[in-house]
Amino acid sequence: MKATGIDALAFAGPRGYVEMAELAQARGVDPAKYLSGLGQQRMAIATPCEDTVTMAVEAGARALQQFDVDPAEIGTLIVGTETGVDHSKPVAVYVHELLGLDTRCRTFETKHACYGAMAGLTASMDWIASGRARGRKALVIASDIARYGLNTPGEPTQGAGAVALVVAEQPRLLRFDPMRIGDYTRQVMDFWRPLYSKYAFADGHYSIRCYLEALAGARADALAGRESVFDELAACLYHVPFVRMAWKAHHRHFELAADDTLDPEHHETWQRFEHSYRQRVEPWLSLNAEIGNIYTGSLFLALIDLLRQADATLEGQPISLFSYGSGCGATYCIAEVVNGAVAWHAQLDPAEHLAARRRLTIGQYESLMHQTEHADRAESLDPSSYDLKGGLYYVGTAEHQRRYARR
Ligand code: CAA
Repeated sequence: MKATGIDALAFAGPRGYVEMAELAQARGVDPAKYLSGLGQQRMAIATPCEDTVTMAVEAGARALQQFDVDPAEIGTLIVGTETGVDHSKPVAVYVHELLGLDTRCRTFETKHACYGAMAGLTASMDWIASGRARGRKALVIASDIARYGLNTPGEPTQGAGAVALVVAEQPRLLRFDPMRIGDYTRQVMDFWRPLYSKYAFADGHYSIRCYLEALAGARADALAGRESVFDELAACLYHVPFVRMAWKAHHRHFELAADDTLDPEHHETWQRFEHSYRQRVEPWLSLNAEIGNIYTGSLFLALIDLLRQADATLEGQPISLFSYGSGCGATYCIAEVVNGAVAWHAQLDPAEHLAARRRLTIGQYESLMHQTEHADRAESLDPSSYDLKGGLYYVGTAEHQRRYARR
């Protein structure tokens, strides 16, 4: 069996953000609810000129350049998204052109709420393991804009961004164990977005229960009756719709491993759980807290956070990854941090990009939300009117065709 996994990783996101404390004040909510109840500090906000395509291209280009991957080596391109720009035409084919990929590159989009990129990752690893890749690599890009709408319970769990992953044989960052990948699917109405709506609908508290059930189901499939490896895991990464969800997920993960219910009155066990959370989960949630929910890319944002901080003690260690997509589909898997992965800190770290972002007032954010509603039909959009320059932008739809340009 070929060793496959993640060879390169990069994040790209919009230029604007709002402070969660300011949003809470504007909504008449105690800021502690957003900051500690949900665990969010800031939320990335896209202008009408920044969409799923532009973010995917930026993340893809960064992953290829920073890790010195020749675009000609890419034989499969998959964009996982639940915020596509066309009912028929995949985001991936715009990205294919804008990244200058080869015509022999198989290209498609995957949709299963936040699960689309994990579906792309596992499909890519299977493509390589089957031998059909013939030495080529896959580029999998998670790109999304989370929108629940103003004054909704989901509003503080929005965000926007893309994560690109190069998947290859003998990967430089993370190697997966194909015998420890487990899946779970069940039709549930926890979160969905009908064709007529730009905004997602969610049965929020039910969606949390569905997520936790999917974690149990996918983990059981990954273990397939074998011993739990929980105590050996150096890090546990989860899909992060909001930071506190990772706490809830780790709580359930801990219970599943112990095959027992956690009782806060049982101090010794509770302390072991809290210690485990502080060691294996909390340190890798800072990017999610800064950026918000990026749907398909949220799990991989936590992975970037882990790898940009990792020291040599992490190399060779197993970690777990859990991807959840509402509706619902999930995968739980075990992977190993590759020897030498810590040499890539600088290439992985999006700190410079985040430091260059612009803080938006709540009034500016609300105005952008309204303008975005009409952006798909706007004939001409000017990125400079949103203070955007030095990048690829969506500049309007003429003759029913979306246009992109570098400005
Ligand atoms: N100080 C500190 N904490 C406070 C507080 C205060 N003043 N007030 C409330 N809190 C805490 C609450 O106790 C709660 O924490 P716990 O769950 O740990 O008890 C937390 O803040 C949130 O409070 P509520 O549950 O009352 O918040 P809400 O009812 O307004 O909604 C939500 C929260 C359901 C997550 C909502 O934001 C939502 O619907 N979000 C979208 C759906 C979602 O993200 N689902 C996640 C699972 S599905 C998934 O993962 C796929 C995906 O990406 C969408």
